[in-house]
Amino acid sequence: MTHVDPYFRKLTGNYLFSEISRQVAQFQAIHPEKRLIRLGIGDVTRPLPAAVVEAMTAAAAEQGTPAGFHGYGPEQGYPFLREAIALHDYQDRGIHVDPDEIFVSDGAKSDCGGICDLFAVGNTVTLCDPVYSVYLDTNVMAGRAGEFDPATGRWSGLLYLPCTAENDFVPAPPAEQADLIYLCFPANPTGAAANRAQLQAWVDYANRHDSILLFDGAYEAFVTTPGVPRSIFELPGARTCAIEFRSFSKTAGFTGTRCAYTVIPRELEREGVSLRRLWARRQATKTNGVCYVVQRGAQAVYTPAGRAQVAENLAYYRRNAQTLRAGLTQAGLTVYGGVDSPYLWVKTPKKQTSQDFFRLLLEEAGVVTTPGSGFGPHGEGYIRLTSFGEAGETQEAAARIAALL
Ligand code: MLT
Repeated sequence: MTHVDPYFRKLTGNYLFSEISRQVAQFQAIHPEKRLIRLGIGDVTRPLPAAVVEAMTAAAAEQGTPAGFHGYGPEQGYPFLREAIALHDYQDRGIHVDPDEIFVSDGAKSDCGGICDLFAVGNTVTLCDPVYSVYLDTNVMAGRAGEFDPATGRWSGLLYLPCTAENDFVPAPPAEQADLIYLCFPANPTGAAANRAQLQAWVDYANRHDSILLFDGAYEAFVTTPGVPRSIFELPGARTCAIEFRSFSKTAGFTGTRCAYTVIPRELEREGVSLRRLWARRQATKTNGVCYVVQRGAQAVYTPAGRAQVAENLAYYRRNAQTLRAGLTQAGLTVYGGVDSPYLWVKTPKKQTSQDFFRLLLEEAGVVTTPGSGFGPHGEGYIRLTSFGEAGETQEAAARIAALL
């Protein structure tokens, strides 16, 4: 008799974005005439920068020659990419990160999920509420959650940090002992950015409590407000308590190409064990890394041409965010986020539930959003929109929503 993993079995329903896709596909099948505008999942629409395409084309050609062929690559990623990341994303900004503290991977999602492997089951997991559901679901799968209570929408055994308009969607450290603390700033889904003092409070808490900060910096490139940290390693003390996840997906359009990286400082140890070494061991066992061609493409992001083209894409998405903020605010909605973030967190009007407002926008305006309740109980009463759409469609979506309301 084969037994199925009991923790996986606890997971209720589908992964959030699979569930939204299901509902949208069902609606589209009944109404094939409706032209939907998709501002739900945060998938980019700008093509890859030309510098990336050129580098990948050249690398693909290399792979077809005896002299240029690459088989298995270094498990941690090619030095040429790790050195470019360390230099441009950290050292040029005065942040101490060395190439051998960087692990190249196929996605921040994979790494945020995989990092669970390093920690014992009994650790208390601390999550923002609302939260990117990957942090929650992977810990349920790993056996760190108790039981799901449909009445509260929460799992026992986890520590939830409410992110509300009252605390500007940035929670303070709790009074209790928290072991594994997931933070994502600029935040998915609320679009909130944490300032230096707020992040310093978390770093100090983690060092005092021997906790680990699992810091998802996937949206750092969207920060425009002066003084808002783009990396947890800008904060003194972070090297002894934090792991950072970064991605090329939202900056350089790699959602379909796949490349990201995780930073684990050399100083980061618990119970005398180096977490950097442990992650190296885990990665070497479970993955053969990211293909050479893609890593050459990611390296090209840091060339002068690549940087200029990425900056253009970011400016394009920022304009979309402004379009949505202005249009929805004018339509009478209360809008958060969309300044240092590609996500807009919008209060539902007339106390509608997230799901009802999501359905209304889908059915009457033909605009796909994400119901805030899908991100946790404190997401109820909100929907999330992304600024990653095509510019014309984004303008049209704002106009359609305004016309409906
Ligand atoms: C989102 O929409 O929250 C993100 O696109 C999901 C992801 O990056 O995995």
